[in-house]
Amino acid sequence: MACCHYLAPTDDGDTAFSVDTASITFGAGCLAEAGDRAKSIGISRIALMTDKKLAGLEHVAKVRRSLQAAGVDCVEYDDVRVEPTDESFLAATRFAVESKVDGYISVGGGSVIDTAKAANLYATHPAEFLTYVNAPIGAGAATPGPLKPHIACPTTSGTGSECTGIAVFDLLSMQAKTGIVSKHLRPTLALVDPEVTASLPANVVAASAFDVLSHALESYTARPYNRRQAPALPSLRPMSQGANPWSDLGCREALRLLGLYLERAVADAGDREARAQLMWAATLAGIAFGNAGCHAPHGMSYSVAGLVRDFCPAGYPQGEPIVPHGMSVIVNAPAVFRFTAPACPERHMEAADWLGADVRGAGNDDAGEVVGGRIIALRKTTDMPNGIGGVGYGRDDIDALTNGAFPQRRLLKNAPRDISREALSGLFENAISYW
Ligand SMILES: NC(=O)c1ccc[n+]([C@@H]2O[C@H](COP(=O)([O-])OP(=O)(O)OC[C@H]3O[C@@H](n4cnc5c(N)ncnc54)[C@H](O)[C@@H]3O)[C@@H](O)[C@H]2O)c1
Ligand SMILES: [Fe+2]
Repeated sequence: MACCHYLAPTDDGDTAFSVDTASITFGAGCLAEAGDRAKSIGISRIALMTDKKLAGLEHVAKVRRSLQAAGVDCVEYDDVRVEPTDESFLAATRFAVESKVDGYISVGGGSVIDTAKAANLYATHPAEFLTYVNAPIGAGAATPGPLKPHIACPTTSGTGSECTGIAVFDLLSMQAKTGIVSKHLRPTLALVDPEVTASLPANVVAASAFDVLSHALESYTARPYNRRQAPALPSLRPMSQGANPWSDLGCREALRLLGLYLERAVADAGDREARAQLMWAATLAGIAFGNAGCHAPHGMSYSVAGLVRDFCPAGYPQGEPIVPHGMSVIVNAPAVFRFTAPACPERHMEAADWLGADVRGAGNDDAGEVVGGRIIALRKTTDMPNGIGGVGYGRDDIDALTNGAFPQRRLLKNAPRDISREALSGLFENAISYW
């Protein structure tokens, strides 16, 4: 039984929540719809954006054939960088401007979808790069209006970027990840085809599944929408509006599916049922966090990813160090949920139960340990790194990690407990290793 008193009205909080999502088509083989769907929304010349690896796989070939069959003129860009940067966003923007397209289709993981969002934004509403980037790192200016149509086709069971108005990148000059947030960035249409997951390396399935887990658990435990002050104008209600009845629905089901299928999907590329169910969980969690917002594990992930020195896991492009997004998030998660559990223990306990923890005999005081313990157990069986120590950090890095994460106010403010600089530093300390 879900705890509904968490969403009880308050005297000075917002009194309404909004539901926004992309139009979504989900099902095996639906990538073949790309051409007809592009044509039906009025696209005649489209930029197909992908990365170098995907450009050689059948998923992109299927989309190319479909566009050709529908008579949509297609120009291709496969220079997307895995874990994009400001420079790689700008390179994609130059391509978009020069190609004079009237729409976009992204075929790839979050890196590709986010790059297409940024290229579409800067090609449609040109501006100095930091203009639309979240404050305080950028100016946080509102995007001036709608963008060109964008069809997003996710190929990882992960980010949910096809449903969100967020584009994330690494700002090289600051060695910090940050993002652009606007409802105009939300793709027009998502084609979510679970068949694409058969070719995913195990490590990418695991990292992106933990991203999904954290999207769902952070949104479910976020500060409720009605404890956030109402905006000065209704049109200014933030996308990160806090936990609400709509996002709760997606979080619950995503967590339940992860409890059942996460380990199976990582262990066996041929387990079509498990991989398809993870894809559906990713979509649900994307819809949920796109309307509720994430909190501290994501806020902390931005410095864990941005300050990387020499970590380079299997399954990802070799040669340049990266902490893949899902790993950079989940290394922080047990420390954070142990800290946030006292604010809403029932919600942490429910989540642990859906994720498959043994909650018999556990009381509210145990909620943080139970949910943190379940995440750690899932990480062990899927070979994920043991805390931030497992991706190359030690005690000497805590200050730099804290300095990088503390400016992520949009995310930290969405946590159910206030997080001071000292508390944040303590969370990194507690995230160094778990076993
Ligand atoms: N916009 C959002 O709402 C949002 C949310 C979460 C994360 N993100 C961002 O998304 C990025 C991470 O995206 P991701 O986790 O989806 O992975 P990714 O796009 O970075 O891809 C990871 C690797 O998997 C490969 N790959 C992708 N699909 C494949 C397939 N079907 N078969 C074989 N290989 C495949 C890619 O070529 C790449 O090497 C990060 O930059 C992160 O910050 C964005
Ligand atoms: Fe994420």
